[in-house]
Amino acid sequence: MRPSDARVETPSSDLPATMAVIAQHRYGEADDLAATRLPVPTPGPRDVLVRVAAAALNPADVFLMRGRPKVLRLAAGARRPKVTVRGSDVAGEVVAVGADVAHWRRGDRVFGEASSGSLAEYALARGDRIARVPEGVPWVDAAASVMAALAARDGLVAGGLPPDADANGKRVLIIGASGGIGSFAVQLATHAGAHVTAVCSGRNADAVRALGAHAIVDYTRESVADLPAWFDVIFDNVGATPMEELHALTSATGVVLPNSGLPGPDGGPLMRVARCHARRVLLRRRYRAFLSTPSTAALESIAGALRDGTLSPLLDVVLPLERGSEAMARVASGHARGKVVVTP
Ligand SMILES: NC(=O)c1ccc[n+]([C@@H]2O[C@H](COP(=O)([O-])OP(=O)(O)OC[C@H]3O[C@@H](n4cnc5c(N)ncnc54)[C@H](OP(=O)(O)O)[C@@H]3O)[C@@H](O)[C@H]2O)c1
Repeated sequence: MRPSDARVETPSSDLPATMAVIAQHRYGEADDLAATRLPVPTPGPRDVLVRVAAAALNPADVFLMRGRPKVLRLAAGARRPKVTVRGSDVAGEVVAVGADVAHWRRGDRVFGEASSGSLAEYALARGDRIARVPEGVPWVDAAASVMAALAARDGLVAGGLPPDADANGKRVLIIGASGGIGSFAVQLATHAGAHVTAVCSGRNADAVRALGAHAIVDYTRESVADLPAWFDVIFDNVGATPMEELHALTSATGVVLPNSGLPGPDGGPLMRVARCHARRVLLRRRYRAFLSTPSTAALESIAGALRDGTLSPLLDVVLPLERGSEAMARVASGHARGKVVVTP
């Protein structure tokens, strides 16, 4: 036992020895995930243990489930996933605190990134990767507003539209506007005053309009390439349109944010980022790749937006933990309308 472990503030009498989880023991598809029981994890010095009230899923969880792109396996486990429980977005109550965590106490209501998997009754989270859930904000909304909300915010910052920006008169094109990131980006950009054109399918048009989008392009009937060349920011969360075609739609100073982890005409995610940098340097294209990582400060800005109603997650479905495999299949389909949330 490390000396600091002895000081973990764990009310062992309150905590069960094991917990229900949705876990996988090999890389694969959603039907390789199964409900099982595992020991409740013990927080390390910088961790808190959270009793999960809600968990949300993202394409990143699907990449980890599949172990693809294969380069992921360098960190996630060469032959099988090292962390067997999927899910990272979490909201819940702190029930134990690691020795070096000064900021959090048992009973705090928090949301953020879980390191041990959030499709579980309990999850570990680093103390500097969580923030307080504001009074009145439901668990489900908080859990749904972690990775996707942060990526929406960070993408708009990379595009020159920070949260306090006055975007009045700016034209923003959001591709994949009905997805997790797109649905938050529409709300943030319209709140800042931008004129938002949203690309989604006709079946999601009403939902995306209700988020504030001014114009809708139904990708099943219209081509993005036919739009006017006047966009200040093009936030592409899908990757189905060649980057160069999107760049041709920018204003003289407009930027393109290629933000998809899926393969497309510019290659897979790594190739897309490599092309993005190469073309920026060699061809002076205005591409901005960004990598979003959670921090307490960034999550606090999302918490503020949830509290004041600037942001409200678009919810695809809320499922119980035992249907976690179905929840992952929904995200893996690439056609969730907003966030898929799971509650224990
Ligand atoms: N840069 C970063 O730090 C960062 C962080 C997180 C995620 N990401 C990446 O961001 C991407 C998007 O994530 P997400 O959570 O928003 O995904 P998501 O929620 O799974 O996106 C699903 C949505 O995409 C829509 N869609 C599918 N094909 C489309 C098309 N051709 N045109 C327009 N919409 C289309 C679907 O609508 P329909 O059902 O109508 O087709 C669905 O509503 C992922 O690939 C992920 O890897 C990047």
